[in-house]
Amino acid sequence: MEAFGQSIPFDRELARQDVQGSLAHAEMLASVGLIAKKDFTAIRKGLQEIRRDIEDGKFVFDPANEDIHMSIEADLTRRIGDAAKKLHTGRSRNDQVATDLRLWTREKIDAITERLRLLMLAFVAVAERERDIIIPGYTHLQRAQPVMLAHHLLAYVEMFGRDRERLADCRRRTNRLPLGSGALAGSTLPLDRELIRDRLGFDSLCENSMDAVSDRDFVLETLSDLAIVAIHTSRLAEDIILWTSSEWGLAKLDDAWSTGSSIMPQKRNPDLLELTRGKTGRVVGSLVSLLTVVKGLPMTYNRDLQEDKEPLFDAVRTVEFVLECLTEFLPTLRFNKTRAAEMLKDGYLDATVLAEYLVEKGLPFRSAHEVSGQLVRLGEDSGRQLGELSLEEMRAVSTLITNEIFKRLDPARTPTSYATAGAAGPRSVTKALGGWKRKLAKKA
Ligand code: ARG
Repeated sequence: MEAFGQSIPFDRELARQDVQGSLAHAEMLASVGLIAKKDFTAIRKGLQEIRRDIEDGKFVFDPANEDIHMSIEADLTRRIGDAAKKLHTGRSRNDQVATDLRLWTREKIDAITERLRLLMLAFVAVAERERDIIIPGYTHLQRAQPVMLAHHLLAYVEMFGRDRERLADCRRRTNRLPLGSGALAGSTLPLDRELIRDRLGFDSLCENSMDAVSDRDFVLETLSDLAIVAIHTSRLAEDIILWTSSEWGLAKLDDAWSTGSSIMPQKRNPDLLELTRGKTGRVVGSLVSLLTVVKGLPMTYNRDLQEDKEPLFDAVRTVEFVLECLTEFLPTLRFNKTRAAEMLKDGYLDATVLAEYLVEKGLPFRSAHEVSGQLVRLGEDSGRQLGELSLEEMRAVSTLITNEIFKRLDPARTPTSYATAGAAGPRSVTKALGGWKRKLAKKA
């Protein structure tokens, strides 16, 4: 049973937060007169020493203790004797662990929010550097319309920007104090929860003691936000895997971020990106794991909840590492402008421009679509692009077409005529670059 129930091998991650919570709790006990000032002074001194040992990596996580809470209390008792026995007054490990975990999660939400900002800044810098590259944009993985590479890159900035918003929202619900809820019912002692809240920097109190000890929504929300972050990094990884493939040849991996094969000397494998895609499975798995743990739990605290930590810790560690690596990797990716220009030459990327030209000439869009489609077929049958057809051939299909069409039929120039807000051309790219630089300039 001892081996089965032990959480110290992983909840030692909460050591710092456990000390932080205990310091606030002890101060409160002294402030309302439940413990003597001299006991508080002894407890504080002991906890501060323990905190230093934790920071210096000197604290001994004795496997004789079941969990981090008992481990720190046992150590405190060794250091200061009887005063330590008063620390747990009015407190249960149920509200204690919920408090520790909220403190930990809050820190990590902040850390990941900052990592996202740094990754977004890397995207903005690369988008700006590659402003003159036009590539085919795809739907259904079929060449569709020309887009600025910068616009494609900035799409990821939008995604990671939403991730930051989601985390900020989740932080608001994470930043509430469970301590003072006891095992489940509160306490007959006159605990001052407001004082603890203030010392630990929580925005408000968890208002229902039963909910306070059994709620893990904040972990589920964090995990689901991280699962979405991971899915975004996975989609990015997939894009770059395609771009750097032998078939695409649009970009090249730097030596520092590619790996060789043990048998084929010519290989440059995108292991970083494949692992990014693969690790997404772990993060999504962590979310599903905890959803499954919580489902069907009766009120209030049940030991099942101890299983919340490993998925959370693993997901946070994984996402932090992925974001850090992608941020360093991104600026090293080399795009091939010549290849981009070549790719624009087939796939009839200007077929929509032709249809929209006919709309300007007064043709209903459905008919314009039909004319453009006929000309694409003519091109396909004779192995030519739209711009290589003669005016006579085009006019045989629609007399609305005049010589000026040839100025429009160049996919490399199409983006400059995109006119709508948020389109894939230079107008919205310039605006987005400016906007993001302003928004991302500050940490918070
Ligand atoms: N290690 C436990 C956890 O992580 C701490 C709370 C234990 N509470 C209890 N009543 N046994 O959930």
